[in-house]
Amino acid sequence: MSVAVIAGMQWGDEGKGKVVDLLAEDADIVARYQGGHNAGHTIYCDGEQYVLHLIPSGIFHKDKICVIGNGVVIDPQALLDEMNQLKKAGIEFESRLLISDRANIILPYHCSSDISRESDGKYQKIGTTGRGIGPSYADKIARLGIRACDLSDENRLRKLVLANYEEKKAIIQKLFDGELQSFDEIFEGLLKTRKVILGLLTDTHTYLRQQIANKKNLLCEGAQGTMLDVDHGTYPFVTSSNSTSGGACTGLGIPPTQIDRVAGVIKAYTTRVGEGPFPTELFDEDGELLRKEGHEFGATTGRPRRCGWFDAVVARYAVHLNGIDSAALTKVDVLDKCKVVKVCTAYEHNGKIYEEMPADLNVLQNCKPVYTEFDGWMESTVGTYKFESLPKNARLYIDGLKKIIGAEFLMISTGPKREQTICKEGLF
Ligand code: GDP
Ligand code: IMO
Ligand code: MG
Repeated sequence: MSVAVIAGMQWGDEGKGKVVDLLAEDADIVARYQGGHNAGHTIYCDGEQYVLHLIPSGIFHKDKICVIGNGVVIDPQALLDEMNQLKKAGIEFESRLLISDRANIILPYHCSSDISRESDGKYQKIGTTGRGIGPSYADKIARLGIRACDLSDENRLRKLVLANYEEKKAIIQKLFDGELQSFDEIFEGLLKTRKVILGLLTDTHTYLRQQIANKKNLLCEGAQGTMLDVDHGTYPFVTSSNSTSGGACTGLGIPPTQIDRVAGVIKAYTTRVGEGPFPTELFDEDGELLRKEGHEFGATTGRPRRCGWFDAVVARYAVHLNGIDSAALTKVDVLDKCKVVKVCTAYEHNGKIYEEMPADLNVLQNCKPVYTEFDGWMESTVGTYKFESLPKNARLYIDGLKKIIGAEFLMISTGPKREQTICKEGLF
């Protein structure tokens, strides 16, 4: 019996989808604990590429149960669209997808609030995905949210949605001069999706507790990454949930004493989408090379991702915050054409050296990375599945990272496909 948590260690898009899909092989259940359809998790299965947003990354294994936990915010239409896409592709999941009856719902007024605020010059632009994530979590914390279980009683649901709608309408129109659909349109849309969602509702906390008691292996899947965590990330340039491993406890109702392992996912370099500080960001041809070789364009919004060198201050922070005992290192192959590979080991600001992550955005925005350099390997590592087959300099780089961040690698990824992986150990 084992409960393992997988969390992103950077600013998201570390390759969690691929890693969770691979580790799911040994799990019985994969459960998403936070975020919403802002996530984009890419998985290759039988030669096809899929991008999952809400559905857990274990869905391509026919015998795995997938749970969407209470900590996730669910846009019912987005979930239905995703389910339909999988169905069209012939992926069967009828009795394998469970949704927490305590999960909060995203409605179109959340998206309108998100987009209006982002496009209004008066407010700080975060560069959100425009999916209504922030406003929906804001309603949850303000105790105004609508939970999945509220879908069961139509009259009560109408009252709840109407009260929220009136408030959002006033704000969107008066403050942002923005557009909002009519109440009837929104409510009818919700009623259309209601039946399918109700059919999947489960008391997932109780379900998971029983499964853990039955000695099943549970993989808790995080979305986004440590630096996007609302408490620990580069606030306010973060998402609105706890993407770090602690989020698995609150987002699934699993007590901390039940968690056996925490694994991180980290890219061999760094990317970020949206606004906010990024100390190792590159604006030169090296940055272009990483974007081109790594196909660094958002899986959800298609936006080009900002690219930079590996940041060990971020990595160590992620190891400590999440309690990571081992990590999956991804996209090593993307560095194949770099003559020199750099790793930032500290930040320098106004003559002071920072080895720990500073909270102050002023420091993060204006600091200079202190770099250690590694010689590149200048040959293809794509698809390498044995550590010994990697070029010597690639092995030196990986061993160097291990020392600098103080964690073992349980997996090294050398391409987007399942078999393009050096597997060192399993999780369970
Ligand atoms: P996630 O959000 O953490 O699941 O990551 P995304 O799916 O948004 O972005 C990761 C991208 O890198 C996807 O396009 C993956 O197919 C791809 N990918 C994952 N691992 C590797 C790897 O080792 N090498 C390369 N070249 N691509 C990878
Ligand atoms: P996965 O799970 C990368 C970023 C957005 C924006 C900030 C807030 O695929 O790693 P939000 O819409 O959440 O309010 O946007 O967070 N962001 C992500 N960046 N990967 C993600 O998910 C992200 N989800 C949100 O770009 O900067
Ligand atoms: Mg992604």
